[in-house]
Amino acid sequence: MSSNLSETIDRVLADETDVRRATDSHQAEFPYSRDQEAEVTRREFCNFLVLTSTTMFAGAAGFSAKAMYDAGVEKRFAPTPIEDSETLTPGSAMNFTYPGEEDTAILIRSRDGSYHAFGQKCTHLSCPVYYSKEHQRIECPCHEGGFSERTGEVLYGPPPRPLDKIEIEVHNGRVFATGREVRGNET
Ligand code: FES
Repeated sequence: MSSNLSETIDRVLADETDVRRATDSHQAEFPYSRDQEAEVTRREFCNFLVLTSTTMFAGAAGFSAKAMYDAGVEKRFAPTPIEDSETLTPGSAMNFTYPGEEDTAILIRSRDGSYHAFGQKCTHLSCPVYYSKEHQRIECPCHEGGFSERTGEVLYGPPPRPLDKIEIEVHNGRVFATGREVRGNET
């Protein structure tokens, strides 16, 4: 054995002796060996890894679920009559909420008498859109976005995707909302 190597081994053993001397009092109060200590540390580290990867997996699953929802998922809710919809004349619109009180929406009756309904939040920065009788389209006052009155597709401006679509059914002149779909990019 070279003298350098034997000096190194002596130094390491001396360090270990110093550590044992320094931790003697703690060893008396918490009696476990350094091997056990290493085992505890390994176990804690493994637990940490499992916890971290579980958390990351749950986070990734959450993001992916949201991406799927944003990409276009239709949700069905109980059919709900839209109040006063039977009074809506061709070429006009009215606001309502669906499915919750905070979910604002717009019901449009086109000039040909057909009905179309969409979420009222602009898909750019959520400003409330309105129906322009003059232009027969849905407009956003915030950054000049425009949407089709029949499909809710983007006609112009910065909105990145169509308005949410509200599924409707008409019974005896009364309009019922039956579902709401968040739609993804048109591309
Ligand atoms: S919020 Fe509607 S165009 Fe910007």
